[in-house]
Amino acid sequence: MKIVKSIREWKNAKPEKTVGFVPTMGALHRGHLSLVEEARNNNSTVVVSIFVNPTQFNDKNDFHSYPNTWEKDISMLKNAGVDYVFSPEYKELYSDEYRYQISEKKMASVLCGESRPGHFDGVLTVVMKLLNIIKPQFAYFGKKDYQQYMLIRDMVATFFIETQIVGCDIIRETDGLAMSSRNLLLSEPQRKTAPLLYKILQQTSNVNEIKKQLAVVGFKVDYVEEFWQRRFAAAFLGKVRLIDNVPLGETYDSCS
Ligand code: PAJ
Repeated sequence: MKIVKSIREWKNAKPEKTVGFVPTMGALHRGHLSLVEEARNNNSTVVVSIFVNPTQFNDKNDFHSYPNTWEKDISMLKNAGVDYVFSPEYKELYSDEYRYQISEKKMASVLCGESRPGHFDGVLTVVMKLLNIIKPQFAYFGKKDYQQYMLIRDMVATFFIETQIVGCDIIRETDGLAMSSRNLLLSEPQRKTAPLLYKILQQTSNVNEIKKQLAVVGFKVDYVEEFWQRRFAAAFLGKVRLIDNVPLGETYDSCS
C-alpha cells in the first residue's frame, strides 16, 4: 500500500483501471471498511483518501476535537487490501484559500444543511476536488450520511463528472448504534444512551413523539424530520452530535 501525500505523486502513479475511491476523514471503523470492501470487490485499484476537511466544519471546536487515529487507520487499510492512501495537505487542496465553492441551493438547506450552515458547501467542494484529482470510475459513500450521498450523487450528474457514485448501507454496532468516528468522543454513560437514537427512530412513528422520547432519555434534539421516504434525526449527547436515518418504505440491503 502506497501513501501518497501530493497531487504530483498521484499523477505519477499508474493505477490499473478500474479505480474505486473511498473518501474519508480518518478515525476509521467498520462503516468505512464496508465501503473499502465494496470498492475492493469491484475494482482493480482501491484508493482511500484521509483528509479532515476544515471547510465542512461549521464549528471550530468540532474540527479541533475530531479524532485522529492515523497509525491504526493505516494498518486497517493495509489489512483491507487498499492500494493507495491519498492524504494531502490543506494548502495543496485549497491553493485558492477556498475562494471557489460548490453550493447546492435546495436540498442542502434542509436537515444537516439547516443546522450546520456552510457544511455541505465544504463537503461538495472537497469531494469535487478529490474526484477531479483521483478520477475514479467508482466512488463509494455511506447512507449514514444520506443527505451527503444524495447531494454528491446529484452534483456528479449535474457537472458531468465521469464517476459512478455508489451508496452503501449503514453499518451498526451490535446494539444498533450507527458506527461513527464521533462515537469515540462519547463518555461511558453517553455511549450507553446512544443506541436509543436508532431504537426510538425505528420504533416510534410520530415525529413529535420521537422528539419527546429522545429528550426524556437525555438527548438534546437538533431535528427529527421525514424526507425522501426516510426519517432523519440529529441529536446531541453533551457536545457530541449524532445522526441517523431509517427508511420508511422498502429497504435495500446492499450497495446500490
Ligand atoms: P467520514 O465521516 O469519514 O465518512 C466517510 C464515508 O464513510 C462517508 O461516505 C460516510 O457516509 C461513510 N460512513 C461513515 N459511517 C458509516 C457507517 N456506519 N456505515 C456506512 N458508511 C459509513 O463523510 C465524510 O467523512 C466526509 O464528509 C467526506 C465525504 C470524506 C468529505 O470530506
